[in-house]
Amino acid sequence: MTVGRPILDRSASALAKGYAWLPDLRRRNPGPLLRTRVLGRQAAALRGPEAVRFFYDEDHVRRAGAMPEPVLSTLFGHGAVHTLDGPAHRQRKDMFLSLLTEPREVAELARHAAECWDDAVEAWAERPSVVLFDEVPRVLTRAVCAWAAVPLGPDDTDRLASDLVAMVDGFGTAGPRHWRARAVRKRRERWLEDLVERVRSGHATVPTGSVVDVIAKHRDVDGRPLDRHTAAVELLNVIRPTVAISWFIAYAGHALHRWPHLRKRLRHDDTPYAVAFAHELRRFYPFAPYLGGLAATDLRWQDEDIPADTMVLLDVYGQHHSDELWDQPYAFDPDRFLDVPPGRDELIPQGGGDRSTGHRCPGEDITVALLATLVPRLARLDYDVPDQDLRISLRRLPARIRSGFVLEMACSGALRD
Ligand code: HEM
Repeated sequence: MTVGRPILDRSASALAKGYAWLPDLRRRNPGPLLRTRVLGRQAAALRGPEAVRFFYDEDHVRRAGAMPEPVLSTLFGHGAVHTLDGPAHRQRKDMFLSLLTEPREVAELARHAAECWDDAVEAWAERPSVVLFDEVPRVLTRAVCAWAAVPLGPDDTDRLASDLVAMVDGFGTAGPRHWRARAVRKRRERWLEDLVERVRSGHATVPTGSVVDVIAKHRDVDGRPLDRHTAAVELLNVIRPTVAISWFIAYAGHALHRWPHLRKRLRHDDTPYAVAFAHELRRFYPFAPYLGGLAATDLRWQDEDIPADTMVLLDVYGQHHSDELWDQPYAFDPDRFLDVPPGRDELIPQGGGDRSTGHRCPGEDITVALLATLVPRLARLDYDVPDQDLRISLRRLPARIRSGFVLEMACSGALRD
């Protein structure tokens, strides 16, 4: 079978409908492959663990040329590892894996995050209320910059935190949020280019083996150091997504409020439960809607043809809410991950497949560790949740809680049992 007449061009509605776009289309057009159009191109959307393995086979799907310019100019940066294929990707990816997956380093970053959180909580207790989604990015910015050896002046944290959030917040819209994200990225790339130059010239020193040091010294597959712009882009690709974990911490506030019985279990620092909770946050709440690449050649998927250069979409949100894969997918239930760790290609909030050969996120261990460190701390805080708009629109890309999740702290800060 060849690609038939596609359902109308839905690229505009992709932005407007956000996370529900592919799941809604699939409900109306059941079958293994969904055909549509995105940004003027034919597109084929897939989901399910077998589809993940198909999508992450480099002979099937390539990344070069697949990423829309507005996403590169806000979220990832031009020349980022996300856009590479083959040996060039492998060499750059090894650098990220060496920095981000060593258990001692992951634990060290979690230790920084715990310290910064505990400091912040002391200050929150002095204020009538705080917005979790404003505060957590500051905590994570301080932590990741200290860990990565990115120097921050005493007054830099708040501005950098807000810039890093803006880069993530602006990729999926054409409005002012998007233009702010572009401007902020340019400014922050220049700032980090300068840091890389100073480190390389010996005008600034950073610890050997730190993120800044490793990126400044990294050599690509052609044997040459990264140009200063690409080095800055990749430095941002460590600190920006670490701060993006704030989305899930705000979602944790939402979950603990909606299902208060879960709070008790988290309070007692039961690590396996905290890890299961982190996985369920990443499954249940919306963040990456889908992933895309281009068909590297003429492909065949479950008796359906996908011509070369078709945009292949992996429906992340749809997969996480499919009743073919999950028991009661719309129930928030961390227990589903308590005794059974997530299947590699079933839970894919940060991509699927093998992280060392494909594009799966190298920051997954860090994400789970920071959530398992900070969410129990949140559960142990004593706060009230005043009336506010807690809706999460699935039309907004990326989704977020409208109010940002406002807490009113009790005097002690610690929980009354
Ligand atoms: C790739 C999500 C945290 C660094 C990705 C991908 C997704 C993702 C969906 C793309 C997978 C693909 O293209 O197939 C997330 C989410 C995070 C998170 C939802 C938590 C909020 C992190 C952290 C780091 C990180 C903490 C680093 C400290 C990267 C890098 C890539 C990537 C460098 C590119 C990998 C490649 O192209 O090979 N992430 N990520 N991410 N992520 Fe994350």
